[in-house]
Amino acid sequence: MYDLIVIGAGPGGYEAAAHAGRMGKKVALIEKERLGGTCLHAGCIPAKTLLRSSRLFRECREAACYGVRLGSVEFDMPAVVERKNRVVGALAKGVEGLLKRAGVEVIPGSARLAARNAVEVGGERHEAANILIATGSRPAVPPISGIDTALDSNTVFALDRIPASVAIIGGGYIGLEFACFFHEIGSQVRVYEMLPQIASGCDGEISSRLLQILKRAGIEFHLGAKVESVPAADCVLNATGRAPVLESLGLEDAGVAVSRKGIRTSDTGKTNIPGVWACGDVTGRRMLAHAATREGIVAVNNMFGRRDRIRYAAVPSVIYTHPEVASVGRTEEELKAGAIEYSKSVVPMSVAGRFLVEHEGATGMVKVLAGAKYGEILGVHAIGDGASEFIVAAAAMIETEMCVEQASEIVFPHPTVSEALKEAIAGIGRR
Ligand code: NAI
Repeated sequence: MYDLIVIGAGPGGYEAAAHAGRMGKKVALIEKERLGGTCLHAGCIPAKTLLRSSRLFRECREAACYGVRLGSVEFDMPAVVERKNRVVGALAKGVEGLLKRAGVEVIPGSARLAARNAVEVGGERHEAANILIATGSRPAVPPISGIDTALDSNTVFALDRIPASVAIIGGGYIGLEFACFFHEIGSQVRVYEMLPQIASGCDGEISSRLLQILKRAGIEFHLGAKVESVPAADCVLNATGRAPVLESLGLEDAGVAVSRKGIRTSDTGKTNIPGVWACGDVTGRRMLAHAATREGIVAVNNMFGRRDRIRYAAVPSVIYTHPEVASVGRTEEELKAGAIEYSKSVVPMSVAGRFLVEHEGATGMVKVLAGAKYGEILGVHAIGDGASEFIVAAAAMIETEMCVEQASEIVFPHPTVSEALKEAIAGIGRR
């Protein structure tokens, strides 16, 4: 009998399993494919590794702007893919080591709930006081004619050549990151988005700025364009969202409540069935690796008597486009819709000397939204390279319910791009 069985070894499941293991609990982690999940094998890490190479390729072509003259520059796709595989391999070993050190038993196979405290894997029954479902998500397959011929965020990583033209269906996180990658390596890129804006859910001003920058760079956008049949291009990418992995888990027989988005959970990770918990993309709450990790740890803490909860308002998100977009908290649109009175400050990224030093000819901005009465920080939205590394400071402010007055006392290192955040906060204080 285990204290905990975790189903799925992505960043939600493996971190939760390791956390429980370190608490001294007897833990089993069941995985049918590879340790690390989508994030490590077909998501965050491989995508960012490819984007690192494409950025370097672009920067080499632009090196003369920095006074550096290079000869001809070549993008060697097989070598880029090889490096991506090495990075993924090294991190996969890291996950294996983490689980070993935490004393987690890894069971390969597909798990199915047999009862509220038991799962079946390959005909064997394993019992546990708690079961945490962390089976993640997979690319959604929309009703688009010919969609089976398109690549998705799993299969795109097998591409070993530079396509002449790429049509991307969906202008969300995946669509935009791959649009930047393919554009930088020399493909003609078209993005089709059914909504009137890209990166929906982002603060409107930031999303408009991103659109303007990417269009100016040469990416073609078709907004308000619901794709019904796969467009003609050398390569088509389906980036229309992700769907929770729910099948073959025996959820219906066990009576676990599921909505259209995924398994229903409370803010502590509980499902409607006592002893059965869920975290990450399978819940459809915030489809982000770091949200999955935090949800998993919150669930483990609560199942073993430590009260904990995730504050979704303080979960940051980053789009690794070039330039990056990083956000945390409420958008201006959300504040307006909720009739919440707020103050706003927007500064250009160039107020930070380091931004000018690092990014020749680039633009960007940081926007801070704070409560009108008490000055509590409600949202921070930034566009510009470097934003992904300082957004955690804003997340800490929101997590601790900090007001502008206290945030203004924080010393930001100079010269860093983060000083743009400091200036945006100061902008509210000066009102
Ligand atoms: P998404 O939900 O971000 O964007 C999908 C887009 O496709 C939406 O804007 C939608 O309006 C559009 N769309 C859907 N059907 C369409 C059609 N027939 N024609 C035209 N447009 C259509 O989903 P995405 O980009 O696939 O990403 C999936 C999940 O993975 C997201 O929830 C995201 O949070 C996560 N992710 C996070 C990343 C990060 O943190 N940097 C990177 C990649 C993915």
